[in-house]
Parts: sequence; structure tokens; C-alpha cells
Amino acid sequence: MITIALSKGRIYDETLPLLSAAGVKPVVSGDTDRRLIVPTNRDGVRVILVRAADVPTYVQYGAADLGVAGRDLLIEHGGRGLYQPIDLGIARCRLVVAAPEAFDYPAAIRRGARLRVATKYVKTAREHFAAKGMHVDLIKLYGSMELAPLVGLADAIVDLVDTGGTLRANKLKVVEEIQPVSSRLIVNPASLKTKRAEVVPLIEAFGKAARA
Ligand code: ATP
Ligand code: PRP
Repeated sequence: MITIALSKGRIYDETLPLLSAAGVKPVVSGDTDRRLIVPTNRDGVRVILVRAADVPTYVQYGAADLGVAGRDLLIEHGGRGLYQPIDLGIARCRLVVAAPEAFDYPAAIRRGARLRVATKYVKTAREHFAAKGMHVDLIKLYGSMELAPLVGLADAIVDLVDTGGTLRANKLKVVEEIQPVSSRLIVNPASLKTKRAEVVPLIEAFGKAARA
């Protein structure tokens, strides 16, 4: 049995066409299907649905053979025990530092202010600010980072931006780019060895679909 870990929402939606090109179609019984293990049209292949940040963990421990995870979450996870063969080019966005429109971020940096930065990406943020020689106090959040500067929890945030709509709606602006983000196919290295005959054709089909 081959198990593929996906997260609900954009990763699932954007992976479906790639899966389909690889000949794998999840069999769900309508929008209200609450099953976390989803069978597919292929007897030996199933999909499991987990939180986006948990996909690398399921694959690392071999509870899933393959998975699809954002580069943002792979960096936070550290990537240990994961083979990451293909950038699928889906769920594209950017990881940035953002602050209130009225905040003079460059001036704050110039005078060496110690900023409070709220984020779900603590590891990435720590490395980013350390590389710039900036001292910041990081506050770990689990979502809705854009709110933090509006209510005085933080001076700035490290978060994902795509259209910029969420930042604009909350009167925030990008003050630094950290890195572009897209999602990768990740593979358990032991599965690659022990289930080679099933796993390698799937990796190749994903790669072909992603390039198309
Ligand atoms: P959860 O909803 O379980 O808290 P999440 O918010 O991380 O998890 P998603 O919003 O589905 O889950 O995001 C999954 C991945 O999609 C992210 O890790 C990131 O790589 C990418 N992503 C997030 N937001 C966007 C966006 N606005 N546009 C494009 N890609 C995005
Ligand atoms: C993501 C991200 C931003 C938003 C950016 O949130 O955390 O808040 O998208 O996209 P934009 O620049 O196009 O507005 P998402 O929509 O995934 O919501 P959630 O993670 O809070 O569920």
C-alpha cells in the first residue's frame, strides 16, 4: 500500500490535477465526506488528510510514503529524514516581513530598535534576522499573524503573501522579502528503497505532470 499525505484546501486542490495525471484519483463521497483516509481508484494507493504543518512529520516517520508540503513548512520542519525530489510549482507565494503602513521599518532598523515580531515561522524568522544582525523578540503564533501589529502584540510579522490582499485589508505593507515559496513532493527514503517499484513511477509521473 502506498500512502500519500496531503492537507485539505489549496494543497489538496492543487495536487489533484497532478495526482490525476499520475493516474491516481481520490474516491470521495461528496463534500461532506469526513474520512481522513481516502481511497483512490488505484487499489494500492490511498490519500491521508492531515494538517499542512504535519505532512513532513507523517512522511518522516513513514506513516505516509509520499506527501506534498510548502517550502515554508519544510524549512520549519528542518527536512530531516525527507527526500525532496520535485518542486511541484503549486501553492506559490512569498515569505515576507510585513509591518503597519505607517511604521518606518528602515528607520527602526537604523537606530537598532529591538523589534517584536509575531510569526508561525519562528525558525525561519530567527535565521533571517540573525543573518541581518538584527535583535528581535519572536512571538510564536499559529495563524492570523496580520492581526498582531494591529492590536499591539508585535511591531512586525513574518508571514506568507500571495495577492497582497490580506496585508492591504489590514493596512500592512511588505518591508522585506525572505524567500519565494512553492510546494514540493516529499518522499520517505525507506519507502523509496522498499517500495521502489510503486514509488519511483509515482515520483516520475508527478515530475512529468509538474513540468507540463
Ligand atoms: P492550517 O489551515 O491547517 O492552519 P495552513 O494555513 O498552513 O494550515 P494552507 O493555508 O492550506 O494551510 O497552506 C498550505 C501551504 O500553502 C502553505 O504551507 C504555503 O506553502 C501555501 N500557501 C499558504 N497561503 C498561500 C497563499 N495565500 N497563496 C498561495 N500559497 C499559499
Ligand atoms: C494565507 C497567509 C496570508 C494569506 C496571504 O492565509 O497566511 O494570510 O494567505 O494571501 P494574500 O496575499 O493573497 O491575501 P490563508 O488564506 O491560507 O488563511 P489561513 O492560513 O489563515 O487559513
